[in-house]
Amino acid sequence: MSFDTLYKNMITLYEEEGKKWCDELPEKVDHIVKHFGITETLPYENLSYNYVVSGLMNNHPIVIKIIYDKKNLHYESKSLSAFKHVGSVNLLYRGDGFLLLEKSIPGSSLATMIDNDEDILLLSHVIHQLHTLRDYKRSDFRNLQDLFSVFDQEWNFPNDYLHKVRLIRNYFNNQNQQQVLLHGDLHHDNILKHGNNWKVIDPKGIIGNPLYDATSFILNPIRLLKNKEEEYLSKLFARRIKKISELQGWSEQNLTAYSFMYTILSWIWALQDGTDIEYQQKCANILDSFMT
Ligand SMILES: Nc1ncnc2c1ncn2[C@@H]1O[C@H](COP(=O)(O)OP(=O)(O)OP(=O)(O)O)[C@@H](O)[C@H]1O
Ligand SMILES: [Mg+2]
Repeated sequence: MSFDTLYKNMITLYEEEGKKWCDELPEKVDHIVKHFGITETLPYENLSYNYVVSGLMNNHPIVIKIIYDKKNLHYESKSLSAFKHVGSVNLLYRGDGFLLLEKSIPGSSLATMIDNDEDILLLSHVIHQLHTLRDYKRSDFRNLQDLFSVFDQEWNFPNDYLHKVRLIRNYFNNQNQQQVLLHGDLHHDNILKHGNNWKVIDPKGIIGNPLYDATSFILNPIRLLKNKEEEYLSKLFARRIKKISELQGWSEQNLTAYSFMYTILSWIWALQDGTDIEYQQKCANILDSFMT
């Protein structure tokens, strides 16, 4: 059952508090549903860190997203408000510990478009739209450097990777990088079909180099890729890096380096969460081979 993963993750991360949050979810949903007159509620499957339920409010399809971490909720709501006119779903209400969102219909994810690399074109279009945004309040968001600061700690993985990732980060820091409001987690499952368009959900509220927004996509959808041979992945990543760079006018070399940084970052997150690191290891080896 999908709830098992959420329950396990929340206890691993937040112990007693996480368990309490999970145990109180039915009560919380009940309270929100009664307060807003929401009907026909149905939880999404395969949830991992947040509890997400669809429903109807005044006959409009909506989504309730219950979020444990107050900072994450803050950044998500600020980013959704900022991206409102450039391709995110509408934020309808920000509550204490939850968000009410417009529901995308049909809501199928970009993962349904991976044949013939159609996902690459759509991703490029989404990035292009999001990164046109100029009028956002910088103090509402965090910086990518805050995320990259974990590279300064020691981690249980190859020393040369840690050394390399620090060099890459420092190289870009000395480059006077362009800064935009990023989505921050732009993988296939966070881009949903919305009528004839595609809209993003689940933004992270990070300011940084535009290249970062293609990195998560390059490695995803993990559920479909994690058992593939290294040769298959290597060809796929090379193709994606080349095409995205062409479409965005970016340097292939820079996008490869950024993808390597993201891979190491997600490897560290996996270590922190106590989840499997096999896929990150495989991706790091592939991207490293592109750089040497
Ligand atoms: N506005 C929306 N319209 C349609 N479906 C949505 C919407 N928001 C969320 N969903 C569905 O719920 C899933 C999880 O939502 P979301 O991506 O916001 O949370 P998450 O932080 O990724 O959660 P988790 O970490 O638990 O997977 C999405 O992959 C999507 O299937
Ligand atoms: Mg998501």
